[in-house]
Amino acid sequence: MARMGEGLSDAAKRAGEAVDGERLWQSLMHLADFGARPDGGVERHALSGADIAARAWLMGEAERRGFSVSVDDIANLWIRRQGQDESAEPVILGSHIDSQPAGGKFDGALGVLAGLEALTALDEAGIATRRPIDVVAWTNEEGGRFDRSCTGSSVWSGAMALEDYLGDIGADGARLGDALKLTLDATPDLPRRPRRFPARAYVELHIEQGPVLEAEGLDIAAVTGIQGVRWLNVEVTGSAGHAGTTPMTGRRDALQGAHRAIAALNELMADPDDRVRFTVGRFNTFPNSPNTIPERVIFSIDFRHPDKDLLDRHTARLQPLIEAAARPCAASLTPTLFMDPIVFPEAMVSTVEEAARALGHPAKRLASGAFHDALYAARVCPAAMIFVPCRGGLSHHPEEWTEPRHARAGARVLAATAVELAGV
Ligand code: GLV
Ligand code: MN
Ligand code: MN
Repeated sequence: MARMGEGLSDAAKRAGEAVDGERLWQSLMHLADFGARPDGGVERHALSGADIAARAWLMGEAERRGFSVSVDDIANLWIRRQGQDESAEPVILGSHIDSQPAGGKFDGALGVLAGLEALTALDEAGIATRRPIDVVAWTNEEGGRFDRSCTGSSVWSGAMALEDYLGDIGADGARLGDALKLTLDATPDLPRRPRRFPARAYVELHIEQGPVLEAEGLDIAAVTGIQGVRWLNVEVTGSAGHAGTTPMTGRRDALQGAHRAIAALNELMADPDDRVRFTVGRFNTFPNSPNTIPERVIFSIDFRHPDKDLLDRHTARLQPLIEAAARPCAASLTPTLFMDPIVFPEAMVSTVEEAARALGHPAKRLASGAFHDALYAARVCPAAMIFVPCRGGLSHHPEEWTEPRHARAGARVLAATAVELAGV
């Protein structure tokens, strides 16, 4: 692995140079057809029909290019380029191909397809790596349908048990276990990988999903780590009644209770340094009728910060704060995702930096505000991430866009980093 100032191996540089930006772009546009929205975005929920069709295309493409495909029992899809020593721990490249409900063409897809492009670039450059290289498409990173996200990587890493997810009910009423079975049954002959295996390293290329690289005119960021995140669902329960006849005094209106709770949360999360990230992205009211007092409200909390102590302190205050604010309604909280911040190993960050430098792409160090499957992969092996710019910093949006030259730059750095880690 490259150390600061030592330079990149010749094979790694050649791998980066062999990346075909046009082929990568075609594959990105092709994948975006699965679940395409009329507004140009993508709606490809995990384990849905569109996801199953996208997986079939991806598997066919990988096999057509000469790589072997397998799947594990949480439906993470694995594409392998053999190493000279097949018993050596592999280098893993990857991301996800599920999308947000109104998502874009690049969030996740770029990391998977650039991984596949890197494998082909190695073939074309005639580079035999010592270690095998796997490209993975993780299941349900987004949590847009089944709202505990990073399902595939959390199970693979051993942080979560597969069985814990099977009963999850999606936004469309589907049970995760059933959707998973449908997905696995679509490819009954695919070889099965174990849920967890040792790996040498994990590298994920992703769009930045923020404005920094574009504003600074840079191609690449070497990601230093990922801030921590807490997801919870809050259920506020009151009493239903007739909107026209029930006196205001003594009402237990769940929506009003939820509104007071969110106002209290806004106060808790207020941060003069603008580092806390706090979002209520889902708000469902029941029975959802204009002339019935809401009996029940469920809303989500997405709360993030790079400092674990602050995350823990604020999280400990949520329950009493929400209960007090929602009164006379009752309130209960259910955690759905708790991920602590991580810092990527310095040797991994500097390898990415060195690959970018050697290939002529200006790079800077940047921490990730979004979470990624790399958070879980990092529990198994040293992990790194590479960011490329996206227009206006926009993501989780149909108009999400990255320029072809930036997608290419990311794939070049990914391919070179992979070779550096896999050895020749
Ligand atoms: C990932 O999609 C995130 O919400 O950070
Ligand atoms: Mn993503
Ligand atoms: Mn996303």
